Amino acid sequence: MAQFELLARCHTTRARVSKLTLAHGVTMLPTFMPVATQAAIKGLTPQQVDALGVTLILNNTYHLGLRPGIKVLSEAGGAHKFQGWNKNLLTDSGGFQLVSLSKFTTITEEGALFESPFTGEPTMLTPEESISIQHAIGGDIIMQLDDVVASLTPDRKRVEEAMERSVRWLDRCIAHHTLSGRQDTQNLFAIVQGGLDFELRDRCLTQMVERKNSVAGFAIGGLSGGEEKDIFWQIVRQCTEKLPEDRPRYCMGIGFAEDLLVSVALGVDMADCVFPTRTARFGVALTHQGPLNLRLAKYAKDFQPIDATCPCPTCTEGTSRAMLHHVITRETAAAHGKLSVTLHNIAFQARIMGGARDAILNGTFPDYLRTFFANYFDAYP
Ligand code: GUN
Ligand code: ZN
Repeated sequence: MAQFELLARCHTTRARVSKLTLAHGVTMLPTFMPVATQAAIKGLTPQQVDALGVTLILNNTYHLGLRPGIKVLSEAGGAHKFQGWNKNLLTDSGGFQLVSLSKFTTITEEGALFESPFTGEPTMLTPEESISIQHAIGGDIIMQLDDVVASLTPDRKRVEEAMERSVRWLDRCIAHHTLSGRQDTQNLFAIVQGGLDFELRDRCLTQMVERKNSVAGFAIGGLSGGEEKDIFWQIVRQCTEKLPEDRPRYCMGIGFAEDLLVSVALGVDMADCVFPTRTARFGVALTHQGPLNLRLAKYAKDFQPIDATCPCPTCTEGTSRAMLHHVITRETAAAHGKLSVTLHNIAFQARIMGGARDAILNGTFPDYLRTFFANYFDAYP
């Protein structure tokens, strides 16, 4: 099983620093996980990601299970070898992607029935099969298959059904994973559901925490679906208060700097989102003064780097905002190497989380938050 060691706690907030040791090395928490949906972070090599100090990335079971498929992945010796990544890897289970990406997905007690986007054939993803695919992928952390409903679903009965089903599916995932004998190298996480309803969340938390000895960590799912920040943060706090201290807590699908830092203050250890890499492809660079839209004409003659204090190759190798503006608006295929905004944005996420860890360790986390928020929002009109 994963080794999880708490190193420090903030005295004012619920933030903590910990060391998570998995089969592919140590990951310091809190951390942000860049998303490599197709076993590649779009436009970057694994070496570039590694050089930024990133030690944990995310792949998607739904995508890799369909293509290249488990046969190719097994022959390759797993997704680490296939993509040339030798640090830690987490795979999401596929349920969320099925609901968000696939038309005609029907959830039954057996599993999620969907139409294959390639063959059009009806295909069933069961909790057992999700775990089997994740075994073939070989991620260091694997996620239970959960029944995900959009966070703004008005139908409480459906939210309740999905929450209770997620608990039952957790049991099937635990049973299947236990039978495989892979618990030494692959660590199963449970996913708390229950929408924006405190009572449903509480029932889910109670049942999942009872299974604590069979899981290596807990995720908070079903958020980040367009709900108000206020309720989002209240649900995160409810979850972190009830989840055990001695397991990592992963808030799924969040990536805005402000959400990451508030979640860390509420006791979250891990997060992932396509936002920093996706927004980079639209020409938006993340900075401590807020996001910069490099497509805007005002950057055409701005010869400073995105951020003079950033250690990423884009900023240190002399690329100006003007050059990036030029490339992004005219020569998008050239946006690689030191012309990569994606590289910069991943470095930015790693920096704000690394800064949070240092501040928690030094006892200065509240100051860190104040300074961060003052700078980040000062830039807005
Ligand atoms: N990614 C973002 N939210 C979720 C969720 O609730 N469940 C899963 N499996 N993945 C997610
Ligand atoms: Zn940079």
